[in-house]
Amino acid sequence: MKHLMVTGGCGFIGTNFIRYLLEESDFEGRVVNVDALTYAGNPENLQDMAERFPGRYVFVKGDIRHREEMARVFEEYQIDGICHFAAESHVDRSIVGPDAFVQTNIVGTFNLLELARRHQGRINLFHHISTDEVFGSLGKEGYFTEETPYRPNSPYSASKAASDHLARAYHQTYGLPVTISNCSNNYGPYQFPEKLIPLMILNALEEKPLPVYGDGLNVRDWLYVRDHCAAVWAVMKQGRRGETYNVGGNTEMENIRIVETICDIMDELIPPGDGRSRRRLITFVKDRPGHDRRYAIDCAKLTRELGWQPEESFEAGIRKTIHWYLDHVEWVDRVRSGEYQSWIHSHYGT
Ligand code: NAD
Ligand code: DAU
Repeated sequence: MKHLMVTGGCGFIGTNFIRYLLEESDFEGRVVNVDALTYAGNPENLQDMAERFPGRYVFVKGDIRHREEMARVFEEYQIDGICHFAAESHVDRSIVGPDAFVQTNIVGTFNLLELARRHQGRINLFHHISTDEVFGSLGKEGYFTEETPYRPNSPYSASKAASDHLARAYHQTYGLPVTISNCSNNYGPYQFPEKLIPLMILNALEEKPLPVYGDGLNVRDWLYVRDHCAAVWAVMKQGRRGETYNVGGNTEMENIRIVETICDIMDELIPPGDGRSRRRLITFVKDRPGHDRRYAIDCAKLTRELGWQPEESFEAGIRKTIHWYLDHVEWVDRVRSGEYQSWIHSHYGT
């Protein structure tokens, strides 16, 4: 691949992935970052890339829901590979307003697959980024494998499941060189502060309530974002076409433990004035409707076939992440736009 289109590159994982590709990986071509700049996209994340990597980074403001717009990008930049991150990604928002999720995640993915099919001679790879949420919820035991049946429970995960099925079908039917990765919860720099970890870091910093849904015992499998980026690149380079690969951190944690850990590290770094732990800010709130109880990934296939495994421990990764947010208050101020304020107000009533 010489001209790789990365969609959603101004979001959390896309930003980290483009940085990984240009700064750390053996990729030698050009990245064409296509992003519609929704509330979750911030082009400043990659502002230094064009200067540091002359000719190897281009940003195009474009919406994957508009096929003709995307067709022009395919032509102008002679796209020969796609890594597709762009999506509406927040479960709570999908419950309040599923429409954008269907349009971007399903119709948008369909548009890109159709364009890739039209340029099939040139396209070396269509890598589709997906989530473990397509598998639904686990009980106390067991893990999601690549063979686990899909049972999505939210409009977000249902829309991702639909897009996975389309990507798979384009390989089966048209022979498009497709790979898919289904990853667990990521954390790290540049994550939009609507998601659990950055929301809790910033609320803890400002000594605001820390809203924990339900009983706080829902379990997620956490992966440091750089490890996800390395996994995606490994699949793109060596993954078998037509295959899916699960990606996870082997780090299952209850939400309440995550929040307590953040409180303790914040207390250590910035001792509270009155000496009372930030754990006092933990507030149990109404549960998320259809809230999946437990996710846990079996990523043995990725380790066995491609030699990938997570490198960052949660203990080290969460500290790095907290430091990043404390060191980037200007970034935080800028992404907390009017739209962010209205989401926080309507969802949490604060
Ligand atoms: P994000 O919400 O931070 O970023 C999404 C990006 O997509 C934004 O830059 C946004 O502007 C862009 N975008 C949205 N709609 C678009 C459209 N119509 N056209 C073009 N661009 C558009 O999301 P993220 O957390 O970085 O997730 C990226 C991908 O990874 C998603 O496909 C998500 O389903 C998947 N994923 C995320 C996680 C996680 O923990 N965050 C885990 C597994 C998989
Ligand atoms: O598993 C992968 C998925 O992880 C990705 O596909 C999604 O794009 C990503 O957003 C994430 O989904 P979750 O719903 O698991 O992430 P979120 O950060 O929204 O919530 C994590 C857990 O914390 C979940 O059990 C809900 C809970 N939670 C979340 C928020 C925002 C709270 O208790 N309070 C909160 O305020």
